Amino acid sequence: MPIQYIDELNIENARVFIRCDFNVPLKDGHITNDLRIKASIPTIEYAQSKNAKVILASHLGRPKGKIDKTLSLEPIAERLLIYLKREVFFSNDCQAYGNLKLIEQMRPQDVLLFENLRFHPGETNNSHHFALQLSKYADVYVNDAFGAAHRAHASVEALPKLFSEKGGGLLLKKEIQALTALIENRTPPYVVVLGGGKVSDKVSLLRQIIDVADTLLLGGAMAYPFLKAQGFEVGNSKLEEEAVDIAHDLLQEAKKKKIQIILPRDHWVAKRCDVDAEVEKTPSPAIPKGWMGLDIGPKTILQYAQILEKAKTIFWNGPMGIFEVAPFEQGTFAIAEAIANNNGYTVVGGGDSVAAVYKYQLQLKFSHVSTGGGASLEFLQGTPLPGILALEG
Ligand code: 3PG
Repeated sequence: MPIQYIDELNIENARVFIRCDFNVPLKDGHITNDLRIKASIPTIEYAQSKNAKVILASHLGRPKGKIDKTLSLEPIAERLLIYLKREVFFSNDCQAYGNLKLIEQMRPQDVLLFENLRFHPGETNNSHHFALQLSKYADVYVNDAFGAAHRAHASVEALPKLFSEKGGGLLLKKEIQALTALIENRTPPYVVVLGGGKVSDKVSLLRQIIDVADTLLLGGAMAYPFLKAQGFEVGNSKLEEEAVDIAHDLLQEAKKKKIQIILPRDHWVAKRCDVDAEVEKTPSPAIPKGWMGLDIGPKTILQYAQILEKAKTIFWNGPMGIFEVAPFEQGTFAIAEAIANNNGYTVVGGGDSVAAVYKYQLQLKFSHVSTGGGASLEFLQGTPLPGILALEG
């Protein structure tokens, strides 16, 4: 059976459990980007409009089944209060004895947030017992945590299986529609920009992209195994040695399929990654011994911007360099700006690239800013996501 969404479920006056992805970046206990919190508001408000009692749950970070106060969801409750303009009850423990009583006493439209689900090992172990305990709190299950839909964890996979009335939230719906459009309705030329690292993690995505995209632009540490596979030295740059063979095969495959994989033709390099490090520009794709590539160079930026200008569909994941350190942010900024200025269908996904888009205040100029990092990549490579599968049937 296809997934139902919250606006198709019978939630009037019900106790509705909404699994959100409030895994937001924190610095010294302060939220540095609240996109995921803001994006969950329409679903919460929809449930309130139906007089539901709203029970929210999420993970934050990776506390490995133990209480870690630095990963408490309390700052999230404070931020929700600002957006929802009403008190948000907070339970220190999703297994606390008093939770059932508290929910019983809640009035319609009241909101309760549970403390970090991953403080219990049962969450990441996908424990049936843990899910059973959570299931007692609600009549309806809603998953709005697109960012966590690729995790077979208790609140994402085991829990929905215990409900007959279940479905996706409005954010989950928006994400599925926006990313499905990249798979089913894209207008050529379709250009994919991939940066960041971990080629080995992204092999299936790269294979899928080679099948569907017209051009693939590579930057950041993603580019170095490909440059090495073409015979260029990469100096001390971050390089996954085992990815060089993979890159070699992908280049051959792309050639056969007549897909262009474009690699940086120059770089900004330094001997260390510091604000005050001595920075040099390479004249070619090769990086000299003792130096490391930390950003794409000006010739590359120009070429990539020209290609992006002509694109009609764009997907971007991963920065072009260490954009958090000022001397190495030009490439990421230029790519973000070139995509923002494109009037076609433009999607950005992944924690770092989304952080960059927000840093440069370009978020409103993208067709879709995905709240999913790994989840958006797995969705695009066609992997069935456990959190979505669990809502079917
Ligand atoms: C994310 O940030 O990608 C999601 O919240 C999933 O978090 P995880 O990678 O710790 O499972």
